[in-house]
Amino acid sequence: MKERAAKERIEKLKEEINEHNHRYYVLNDPVISDFRYDILLKELTQLEDKYPDLSTPDSPTRRVGSDITKEFKQVKHRYPMLSLANTYSEEEIKDFHHRVSRLVGREPEYVCELKYDGASISLSYRDGVLESAVTRGDGEVGDEVTNNIRTIRSIPLKLRQGDYPGEFIIRGEIILPLDGFRKLNEELEKNGEQPFANPRNTAAGTIKMQDPSIVAGRPLDCLLYYLLGEDLPFDTHYENLKLTRKWGFKVPAEIKLCQGIEEVIAYINYWEAERKNLPYEIDGVVIKVNSIDEQKKLGFTSKSPRWAIAYKFKAEQAVTKLLKVTFQVGRTGTVTPVANLEPVLLAGTTVKRASLHNEAQIELLNLHINDTVYIEKGGEIIPKIVGVELKDRSKNASPVEFISHCPECHSALRKLPGEANHYCPNIYKCSPQIKGRIEHFISRKAMDIDGLGGETTDLLFREGLINNVSDLYKLKKESIIKLERMGDKSAENIISGIENSKSAAFNRVIYALGIRYVGETVARTLASRFKSIDELSTASFDRLVSIPEIGEKIAGSIINYFKSPNNRQVIESLREAGINMKAGSDTDTVSNVLEGKSIVISGVFEKYNREEYKEIIQRYGGKNVSSVSSNTSFLLAGESAGPSKLQKAEKLGIEVVGEKEFLDMLNKE
Ligand code: IVH
Repeated sequence: MKERAAKERIEKLKEEINEHNHRYYVLNDPVISDFRYDILLKELTQLEDKYPDLSTPDSPTRRVGSDITKEFKQVKHRYPMLSLANTYSEEEIKDFHHRVSRLVGREPEYVCELKYDGASISLSYRDGVLESAVTRGDGEVGDEVTNNIRTIRSIPLKLRQGDYPGEFIIRGEIILPLDGFRKLNEELEKNGEQPFANPRNTAAGTIKMQDPSIVAGRPLDCLLYYLLGEDLPFDTHYENLKLTRKWGFKVPAEIKLCQGIEEVIAYINYWEAERKNLPYEIDGVVIKVNSIDEQKKLGFTSKSPRWAIAYKFKAEQAVTKLLKVTFQVGRTGTVTPVANLEPVLLAGTTVKRASLHNEAQIELLNLHINDTVYIEKGGEIIPKIVGVELKDRSKNASPVEFISHCPECHSALRKLPGEANHYCPNIYKCSPQIKGRIEHFISRKAMDIDGLGGETTDLLFREGLINNVSDLYKLKKESIIKLERMGDKSAENIISGIENSKSAAFNRVIYALGIRYVGETVARTLASRFKSIDELSTASFDRLVSIPEIGEKIAGSIINYFKSPNNRQVIESLREAGINMKAGSDTDTVSNVLEGKSIVISGVFEKYNREEYKEIIQRYGGKNVSSVSSNTSFLLAGESAGPSKLQKAEKLGIEVVGEKEFLDMLNKE
């Protein structure tokens, strides 16, 4: 392609991708499949790689940036980033209203907004292009975190059509929606890492990370609440905010124009009760005077605007008694203390246990057995202890002590310098670690072995039939049948589930090994960079850390894993059993939904052409074959599909799948 043609195509692609980003991340209304989107993005990346001069900072490809910033540049805010006066009382909201009314000489109109619980950010735009993103810092000077912020898909890098000022600043909150927070923590816990305490800290910590590719992997969002500049389009805050939606910003639909303080109070009461149904956390409501003239009249104190106030919700708390602390050992050996509580009702559920994270947390709370404790529920699944009622503590109460030996195998626990967790070093003999590794190996996202659940694994382990993951492949139906309550059919299912797992893709095998810190995503990356387990197991530390997404901690853990003779033995046995230890020819797999499927294509299609469907099949882990046989999994048939193929499929009882049905199949995972 000539440079001029490339330039035109790049512009067209950028526009198209930006539109899809907006529809997906801001409007929640995508019109194309993820696959189609990937194809567009890939084409743009390839063109920009070929013509680096045509690559501009507003390109959507810049969202996955990997420039590592060692220290952030300090930037002075053009307008200081002030905080808000806070109150927990309705009376004080009324006082605010009287004060404001007196100063402006009338009862003003208010805009009520939710108080999003995240980290504030100030975005500068020039000629419609995101120029910089700066954190609040001390309110005067903040950190420039533009490369990280670029990865947040709901923030426009280039504004959509609209009459925006040449220069303006827009401020908002970077948040991590609850769903994303839970998934992130599940992943961390599974990989033996410390989970995050709450979505706010996670969001704030993430935007200050040194490596934007890690930021890009976390589903952050940005909700905007304040437009600033010299010549703003409207003279009310509400109209301005609404207008910014047209430029591409995400301004939540919950903002409301209120006449009179009673409407404001009703808004507060409504959201205090309803907040549990929002997809993200809020910690209150913000009330702002709508007219910008009136805002100017009211001005600022040294800390906050006089034209706004925050009504903060009290976190839902309950009081109960700490009965005892027990200790759990995970599959990676990490020992986690768990508070066992007298059952108590909190935010609609009965709570019996609270997480205590680690020894430092216990010390910080200065916990004693039988203490009266306050518990709170944040975004976390398990509630946490936030305080102790000291006056209720009896004189001879004994402090909670962290154990020195593993509760399961009695080995002396270890704690590495700089790490918060204790762990049991008896990796190969401590039962919960052995069982945990086997359970992880067979889990859905790993080898996905049908028919084997936690209970059966436990039984097989107790009966001495399995002691590590490679023993699974030595199991015989006759020995499984002998287990308690095991029928012939179930035993058969287990054997065939184990047999089928032999064809699992290489990335799943890597994930299944249960290497500390190697989650699903990292496993995919490794499978795309290394051709085989041999190449991975001999990779140097330097080679590993040169891969984006692989930091020193992960690299160290991989090296450590392969150093162990025990692990190497397990890998050898797995290889002998026929487990796939090599990457496929196409390392660009996006998912495994079509894994093990041989698919014949016939006819004309609406959404993609046949060549594209061939690529799709490959990228989703399947195999495209040319003729229908008894080994064919299904026939993907479009308009005027070949009659002989259809007939043969019918004769052999092979399923015929239409285009829509096929695309639905891909989106299922
Ligand atoms: S307006 C000058 N509106 O709360 C007024 N702030 O305590 C600037 N926040 O640092 C703030 N939601 O990060 C405003 N709808 C909202 C908000 C909001 C959350 C945060 C913001 C600010 C803090 C103030």
